[in-house]
Amino acid sequence: MSEQAGKPRLGVAMIGYAFMGRAHSQAWRTAPKFFDLPLAPEMTVLVGRNKQAAQAAADQLGWSDVETDWRAVLERDDVDLVDICTPGNTHAEIAEAALAAGKHVLVEKPMANTVAEAESMAAAARAARAQGVHSMVGFTYRRVPAVQLARQLVEAGRIGQVRQVRAQYLQDWLADETAPLSWRLDKELAGSGALGDIGAHAVDLTMFITGQRFAGVSGLLETFVPERPVAESFTGLHGTGGSQRGPVTVDDAALGIARLESGAPVTLEATRFAWGRKNALRIEVTGTKGALAFDFEEMNVLNLYEAADDAATSGFRRILVTEPEHPYVEAWWPPGHGLGYEHGFTHQVVDLINALAEGREPSPSFEDGLHVQRVLDALERSAGQESRWTQIEDTERS
Ligand SMILES: NC(=O)c1ccc[n+]([C@@H]2O[C@H](COP(=O)([O-])OP(=O)(O)OC[C@H]3O[C@@H](n4cnc5c(N)ncnc54)[C@H](O)[C@@H]3O)[C@@H](O)[C@H]2O)c1
Repeated sequence: MSEQAGKPRLGVAMIGYAFMGRAHSQAWRTAPKFFDLPLAPEMTVLVGRNKQAAQAAADQLGWSDVETDWRAVLERDDVDLVDICTPGNTHAEIAEAALAAGKHVLVEKPMANTVAEAESMAAAARAARAQGVHSMVGFTYRRVPAVQLARQLVEAGRIGQVRQVRAQYLQDWLADETAPLSWRLDKELAGSGALGDIGAHAVDLTMFITGQRFAGVSGLLETFVPERPVAESFTGLHGTGGSQRGPVTVDDAALGIARLESGAPVTLEATRFAWGRKNALRIEVTGTKGALAFDFEEMNVLNLYEAADDAATSGFRRILVTEPEHPYVEAWWPPGHGLGYEHGFTHQVVDLINALAEGREPSPSFEDGLHVQRVLDALERSAGQESRWTQIEDTERS
């Protein structure tokens, strides 16, 4: 890091520039404009395999330079951090090489495609940390103000001891059987289907809000549509298929019953076949004194029920989480003006930069990412053994 405009600069290299690359770009661009950060992030270089397309993306998204091989950015002195926005099959190799080259790493979720990869990444992160090099996993939904408030309320004991959790991530973009294949439906590239793509968020949110790890799980996986048209074009989550067809090698839906380390039962559901549910990441946490409920489709709202309220007027209180007293909100708009999907990514950059400037590991760490991977893996193994109860051996904490 070299000094620039009074603040040390943080040179960023971002790999991949499609869905997440665009979201991360806007976060790197916006964070220093709305938050007073201790480091000045610089959008130094974007990596894409096709030079022309990468250059066009860099121009549009605000990156200064382009490389066509991610290895090249590890050699550059003007790069301090590598931001990995590529499919899961590439995460371990890039993250470990970047950490070994002394670059901080932000990697998208799920952290890896297998537990073995995740273990190796967590070991690399531990070794790097000893050298002052840090890593973080992009479980962005932790950065939604209503989710942060939920965590604060649980920590403060407002709902008492956690008794039960209901965590769901519901989408419907694959419910149409003619929706084409993409890397998300290929086990080699994605590791798993709904389980790792969106179930990972439900697992992480449960961990974050309750402050607990998982102890064991029983799972069920289902693939409703085993074959689909091969994509002729694809952007975001949607594409156009041709006449050629190919196999779906991942789950379409993942279900689980689990226990947290306290013994509290959790029901988990992840599906991309829930007609009408577009991005319904929902969590309801029931405690001994009350309950909390969140649904990303109403992301500015947290619902709180307090059992001690007068019976005649009790009910879920709809908290509009847009007050300056709420996490992150003061930097944005007046009460009631609302935040959107992209703000979570901006908050992620803010938290990452603050942690780096203070020389501490950001959260969620690679150990957290490893635990999520263990939960996904245990659920998948359980599903392969008629839903047998499967213990999760993992007590590593950052
Ligand atoms: N945090 C979230 O809420 C969230 C949301 C969506 C996706 N994701 C995660 O982000 C990651 C990327 O997903 P996406 O939706 O952006 O995918 P995408 O298909 O939209 O984009 C992937 C990008 O990676 C590039 N790429 C692939 N292999 C590469 C390589 N070897 N070298 C350089 N570039 C390469 C592609 O060209 C493309 O630009 C995945 O891990 C996914 O699970 C996270």
